[in-house]
Parts: sequence; C-alpha cells; structure tokens
Amino acid sequence: MATKPYPVSDAPLLPILIAPHARLKAKARAVANGDTDADAVRAILPRMFATMYAAPGIGLAAPQVDLGLRVLVIDLMPNDKPAPLAMINPEILAVSDELSMREEGCLSLPGMYAEVTRPARVKVRYMDATGARKELEADDLLATCIQHEVDHLDGVLFVDHLSILKRNIIMRKLAKEQKLKRS
Ligand code: NI
Repeated sequence: MATKPYPVSDAPLLPILIAPHARLKAKARAVANGDTDADAVRAILPRMFATMYAAPGIGLAAPQVDLGLRVLVIDLMPNDKPAPLAMINPEILAVSDELSMREEGCLSLPGMYAEVTRPARVKVRYMDATGARKELEADDLLATCIQHEVDHLDGVLFVDHLSILKRNIIMRKLAKEQKLKRS
C-alpha cells in the first residue's frame, strides 16, 4: 500500500487523531446547505487528500482530522493512478447478503491490522465535491473502504467489529507503541 506513487500536494497537512480519542467515537453531523458548511468542506477537502496521500493511506474521514462533519475521502489508486473520490453526507442505501473478509488498517490506529467481515457489496448515495448527487455501487476493496470510512462518521472504528478480546489486544498494543513513540 505504501509503495504506490501518491500524488504530492502543497495543501497543509492535518494532524490525525489517534485512538482511543473521544472525538473518534462521536457521531459526525451532516453537512448542511449553505455557505458556512460549504466553505468548511471546500477548505478541508484538499487538506484531507494531502493528509491521506502523505500518510500514506487509501481513505480518511473528517472526524479523524477532528472535523465533526460527514465528509470522507478515498483513493485506491487503481493502476497506480490517482482516482480521488470525495463523499459528502454519504448514505449506504443497500448492502449485499454476501460477506467478505479483508484485512483492514486505519490511520487512527497506525500499524494495527485485523481481518474484518463486512458485506461484500454496497450501494452508496453521496454528494461530490461540486455538490452533485451521486450513487455508486461498489464491490471488492472499494466496498470495504467505503464502509470503513462511513463507520468513522458514526464514531465506529474497525476494531469495534472485532471480538472484545481481539480489540483489547490491539488497543493495548497501540497504546504501548504510541507511548514508546512519545518517549
Ligand atoms: Ni480508518
């Protein structure tokens, strides 16, 4: 994942909140019609993309950069080419009965990975960066990524899908590594 040639941007990077952080557990509010939220989204999107590419990561949700709005960015870099996808107020309209298991990581839990089972396909409705209404049917890695990022908007982390035992092991390991990093 980290070997792809991510685009370079001069947008200032945003600090990423690391779990456990109370604001990662909060439900983000919908982006409202009107200039105030539109301005906030316009300002944050380039910085969210820059922060995600620099990390590097394939998805980032606004609560991870301490903005409690329903905004997320994704770029799976198919064929190593940028394919930035911004979603405002995404709503998962339908999920498949079929499940898939995939290893997930998260920029808010650096270095931590676990297999998570989720619906294999999703249908999502959202507004793009220009305010246009869109619908997208996703499968494979994109379906996983969308569900992971939408979870962030509801204060849910990938470890919340694991057993308490597995979650505790990861959270303890993360706390230990973060402590080492600070010392
Ligand atoms: Ni994440």
